[in-house]
Amino acid sequence: MSERQVVRVVKGVSTVDGAGVSVRRTLGGMLLPSLDPFLLLDEIHSDDPSRPLPGFPDHPHRGFETVTYVIGGVVEHRDSRGNHGMLGPGSVQWMTAGRGIIHSEMPTHRDGLVWGFQIWVNLPAKDKMMEPRYQDIPPADIPVVELEQGGQLRVIAGKSEGQVGPVQGVVTAPLMLDCTLMPQETFTTALPVAHAAVVYVFSGGVALGENTDVIPEGHLAVLSEGESISAGGGPDGGRFLLLAAAPIGEPVVRHGPFVMSSHAELLQAFQDFNNGTLA
Ligand code: CO
Repeated sequence: MSERQVVRVVKGVSTVDGAGVSVRRTLGGMLLPSLDPFLLLDEIHSDDPSRPLPGFPDHPHRGFETVTYVIGGVVEHRDSRGNHGMLGPGSVQWMTAGRGIIHSEMPTHRDGLVWGFQIWVNLPAKDKMMEPRYQDIPPADIPVVELEQGGQLRVIAGKSEGQVGPVQGVVTAPLMLDCTLMPQETFTTALPVAHAAVVYVFSGGVALGENTDVIPEGHLAVLSEGESISAGGGPDGGRFLLLAAAPIGEPVVRHGPFVMSSHAELLQAFQDFNNGTLA
C-alpha cells in the first residue's frame, strides 16, 4: 500500500475578506492559487469579543461549492431563497451554489471565540448550473471516533475508521476529517489513490508520512498521490483537517465569487448578477 508523503508546505498568509474580516489563507492566495478541485481554504480565528467581526454581508456565488465548518462561535446565514440558519460549534454547512445564490454569513462570538473554516470546492462544467443545494449538518450528526491513544476523529465527509460522514452526494466525492491527536499519537487512514489531498494543521503540530518534521499550526501540507496517509501528533499534540477530493481536470476561469469554465460563462455570471437574475 503506497503511503502519501508531503510534497509541499504552505504557510498561511493573513488577508482580509468580506466586510473586513481577517482570515488566514493557505489555499486560494498567491502561494497556492488552487489545487484541483480545491479553490480556497481560509481559517477565521478571533478570541477578542470586544471587536465584533464585520462578517460577510450579502454576496453571490456561482459555479462551485462553499463549505463552512465551525469550531467556535456561531455563524448566522441567510440567502436569496429564504433559507436562514445558525451554525454552532461543530456544525458544517456544505452549500452547492450551482447556478447561483446570494447569501450572507455573519459570525458572532460565543464563549469569547469565533473559530472556523471556509473551503471552496469546484464543480465540473456540467454541474456548474445545477440547482443550489444545502447540507446543513448539526454536530450530533457527525460521527466521532475515539482513537486508541486518546485522540479523536470527526468524519464529516467520506469514510474513515468504519464511519461514513453525513455530507452526501457531492460530485467530487470528498473526504473531510477533523482529527485531534495526543502527543506522539499516530493515526493512519485510507483515501482514494488519485484524490487531491491536503492537511491543514490548526492547533499544535503534526508530522505526516515518513517525514518526522512537525508541521505547525497555520500551515497546509499538500500530499502526493497514494492509498493512505499517516499522521503523528507533535510534542503538544495536534489538530488538523484532512481534505481530499477527485480532481476535475477542466479549465478554471474565476473572478471573485464566480468560478466558471470560460470567460464567456464568467461574463454571463456578472451580467446575471447585475440584472438580478443570478439567484
Ligand atoms: Co459565501
